[in-house]
Amino acid sequence: MPNILVLHGPNLDALGSREPAVYGRLTRAEIDRRLEELAATLGCSIEFLQSNHEGVLIDSLYASQPRVDGFLVNPGALTHTSVALRDAVAAIGRPTVEVHLSNTAARESFRHHSLISAVALGVVQGFGAESYLLGLRALVTHLGESPPRG
Ligand code: DQA
Repeated sequence: MPNILVLHGPNLDALGSREPAVYGRLTRAEIDRRLEELAATLGCSIEFLQSNHEGVLIDSLYASQPRVDGFLVNPGALTHTSVALRDAVAAIGRPTVEVHLSNTAARESFRHHSLISAVALGVVQGFGAESYLLGLRALVTHLGESPPRG
């Protein structure tokens, strides 16, 4: 059974109250609960971590390597700034789907460039919490079509 790690970056602990017109009214816990339900129907196990700290996210990517088959990551603002997070995703080399609640291409110009996308399997954005669910489906489908990791 594939094991997926969901990483939520900075400020995503404030979902629910944070700019609801942009990010919706679901809390991070509610999004995780929906992901858990979907994971059960897709036959995968899933774990979650949110941090406001770049280094914690990077450490948890490396620490999870022995047990995790793929990553679902919303890097928050680190999407646009973090070479270090990008390098960790590249170094670990596991399939990684980047997700965003908002459509970053339709927002301020500083959100138009993602440092993570080039090392991601794919990107889902603009569908609110549904971005995470679509991303999980795509990741699990991809893992099902790939040889098991050695
Ligand atoms: C975000 C988009 C980022 O630009 C922003 O900094 C976030 C959330 C999203 O999910 O839409 O924190 O990743």
